Amino acid sequence: MAAGDSFYIATPIFYVNDVPHIGHAYTEVAADVLARWHRQSGDDTWLLTGTDEHGQKILRTAVANDTTPQAWADKLVEEAWLPLLETIDIANDDFIRTTDERHESAVTIFLQKLYDDGFIYSGEYEGYYCVGCEEYKQLDDLLETEVGDYAGQLVCKIHTRPVEILKERNYFFRMSDFQQRLLDLYETRPDFIQPESVRNEIIQFVNSGLQDLSISRSSFDWGIKLPWDDSHVLYVWFDALLNYITAIGYGTDDDNFRRRWPANQLVGKDIARFHAVIWPAMLMAAGLEVPRRVFGHGWLLVGGEKMSKSKLTGIAPSQITDTFGVDAFRYYFMSAINFGQDGSFSWEDLAARYQAELANGFGNLASRVIAMVNKYFDGAVPSPAEYSEADLTVQRVVREAAESADAAMERFAIHTAIEGIWTIVDELNGYITLQEPWVLAKSEDTLERLGTVLYTAAEGLRALAVLLSPVIPAATHKLWSALGAASELGHLTDQVIVDAGHWGQLPPASRVHAIEALFPRIDAAEVVA
Ligand code: ME8
Ligand code: MG
Repeated sequence: MAAGDSFYIATPIFYVNDVPHIGHAYTEVAADVLARWHRQSGDDTWLLTGTDEHGQKILRTAVANDTTPQAWADKLVEEAWLPLLETIDIANDDFIRTTDERHESAVTIFLQKLYDDGFIYSGEYEGYYCVGCEEYKQLDDLLETEVGDYAGQLVCKIHTRPVEILKERNYFFRMSDFQQRLLDLYETRPDFIQPESVRNEIIQFVNSGLQDLSISRSSFDWGIKLPWDDSHVLYVWFDALLNYITAIGYGTDDDNFRRRWPANQLVGKDIARFHAVIWPAMLMAAGLEVPRRVFGHGWLLVGGEKMSKSKLTGIAPSQITDTFGVDAFRYYFMSAINFGQDGSFSWEDLAARYQAELANGFGNLASRVIAMVNKYFDGAVPSPAEYSEADLTVQRVVREAAESADAAMERFAIHTAIEGIWTIVDELNGYITLQEPWVLAKSEDTLERLGTVLYTAAEGLRALAVLLSPVIPAATHKLWSALGAASELGHLTDQVIVDAGHWGQLPPASRVHAIEALFPRIDAAEVVA
């Protein structure tokens, strides 16, 4: 995309019935890496995240904890969901809560419009409802259990808890009207839903027929009241999906809305249907553009199952960051799992990759190069003399890595982008082994060659700092100052990604500073097993 274009990316807004685990952090980090990449490419970037606070699930949690849903939500946001963003270094531009006044008033405008335009009618519904999913279920989505606490009852396949039978007179959204338009959308814009596996599942689902959607409830009142009938509150998903437009000024700030919309929607594949079916249908009904894309990433699995709060397999992000640090958290989940596919988390894999890739591969490279510039050139980056074939190979690897990483990030293939960038780490490590600067340092005759080798290594690190800064912001920031680049080239985050591969930006004579280990050795005993 051309620089200056809008890049608006949103995460799901998370339920505040409980505290975050690494699955939520995974989505946040991915969105943040993409946002930082685009920001550093000069795009007009906006990263939105937030919390989903209405509905029966939150209401019941609050009641079970002897408090009101508002007080419960306030507490969880303050004590758990906002701190999460610090724990994993998320540079979000906004945080929306569905209890924000700005959200509620814009939702009301949207609803009234759909009602006035005839997309909503009153009807009768009877069906199974899973409070865990906050969704009506078809028989296909349910199992009859034979053993355990719920023997003989119908349970939701996702939550393995019994569903409830609801029979209500409520309001419906004419979603069935949009079946063909949705299918046409998926057909004409093959990249609207990604990855392919999620796209295929959605197409199959819509092809099998869409029903109208019940969008209101009158049996409880924790939600946004319908503007034409205040005995009903809005269905929590209809409410939540609208956050993506209410946060950027739908109904209140047309200029900002036009500037940002449409969004890149990053979600877990568990909620891809809501985002790729209901959400575009709602937008079509309101005469608004559909999202730029809906990307449904895979699940983090623990012991082969989707990690989840309701199954008590959740791992708190701080359990990892306390030992390994924030950057390691971000790097590990973004590089070890193919973005779009499921991935199993294990402490052993995390510890092994930390040691091999971050400590030995990257951290060590940075410390050695800087130590050698200090030792052999008194801390001033040497000037390169004539480049040899090996030096030119380093330059080519850097250029190609920068180009391939940018192309991969454009497709949200974050792991591929990092893999491309890591070819620079591997190339530089091999280069130093072969060039043996410590041997070149032994004779005056090879001092010029030593200067070229260390310039090449330092300039390679300059490119690495720029390209990795969206993924590991803290370590690259330290490296950037250690290279003396901050005083010569300005802030790391102002370095333009598309120029990262252009050779020769680090000015000779830059003053390097000693660097503490970017990824210190971790005692195996510290690793929580
Ligand atoms: O669904 N692996 O909120 P939620 C990867 N409020 N990602 C995971 C994960 C796992 N094991 N577990 C959770 C809701 N996630 C609604 C959304 S949006 C308008 C409303 C992440 O708290 C992933 O992004 O249940 C998933 O889609 C989301 O958390 C579900 O969060
Ligand atoms: Mg969930």
